[in-house]
Amino acid sequence: MTPTPTARPPFNRLLLTGAAGGLGKVLRESLRPYANVIRLSDIADITPALDDREEVVLCDLADKQAVHQLVEGVDAILHFGGVSVERPFEEILGANICGVFHIYEAARRHGVKRMIFASSNHVIGFYKQDDVIDAHSPRRPDSYYGLSKSYGEDMASFYFDRYGIETVSVRIGSSFAEPQNRRMMSTWLSFGDLTHLLECALYAPNVGHTVVYGVSDNKNVWWDNRFATALGYAAKDNSEVFREKVEAQPMPAADDPAMVYQGGAFVAAGPFGD
Ligand SMILES: NC(=O)c1ccc[n+]([C@@H]2O[C@H](COP(=O)([O-])OP(=O)(O)OC[C@H]3O[C@@H](n4cnc5c(N)ncnc54)[C@H](O)[C@@H]3O)[C@@H](O)[C@H]2O)c1
Repeated sequence: MTPTPTARPPFNRLLLTGAAGGLGKVLRESLRPYANVIRLSDIADITPALDDREEVVLCDLADKQAVHQLVEGVDAILHFGGVSVERPFEEILGANICGVFHIYEAARRHGVKRMIFASSNHVIGFYKQDDVIDAHSPRRPDSYYGLSKSYGEDMASFYFDRYGIETVSVRIGSSFAEPQNRRMMSTWLSFGDLTHLLECALYAPNVGHTVVYGVSDNKNVWWDNRFATALGYAAKDNSEVFREKVEAQPMPAADDPAMVYQGGAFVAAGPFGD
């Protein structure tokens, strides 16, 4: 995706965790207009810095001291690193639970005032697909993964109330090049809309801790996203252009979790270790 020019003054240095991941690779390019330098971090190998506007730092989010060093000198953080699917609790614990504590604590110690937290629709995954909810509806996590994102949102809330660090928690629906199944016709977030939403989240004043949904302008959405609109977000893309392709796939049974729950198959993952 070619970055679009922006009239916004760039941050001096943005930190992007999870930079080797699916979204990290997209954002590495699309966030370039918003920073003089982007510090790219992951536990996995990352392509070396392309030029002097990139810094690459390998870091395990579970390592408190390493995260502390990672955050030094940055102006805002986009926290996308961590386990991004359902896994046994012990695997989620280090990256997502300890990791989100480490990143906030490092932000506090280094005076970082703006965070974007990559939360997830799996925070509310046990709602049914005919429920319409907003970002203030009680959470219904559908997995250990969803619980870790719920904890991350609480961490964001605490660090704002206690230390004044502002966060936009973005409950990302399904951000891929195209929706891959029927459920994603509702939850899809295009890469262009993701970048626009992150721009709004980085620059909007006085966000406190704001929770929004990361979703494009799809026909059948389950989420009242007025808090994103309040940040200036206006989605441009719509999953309808993919409907024919998606509906060519075999129809799942009516009681398949993928057809019933907002979190889809995540609600039926586990148990682990029996
Ligand atoms: N893609 C989506 O549709 C979607 C939906 C909801 C939420 N999210 C969230 O957005 C973020 C990015 O998603 P993605 O699709 O790019 O996921 P991804 O799994 O491709 O990327 C996550 C990255 O985090 C890194 N990571 C894992 N454990 C780590 C650790 N201990 N220390 C440092 N880095 C670690 C991984 O190596 C990986 O590169 C994730 O936090 C995910 O939960 C994504």
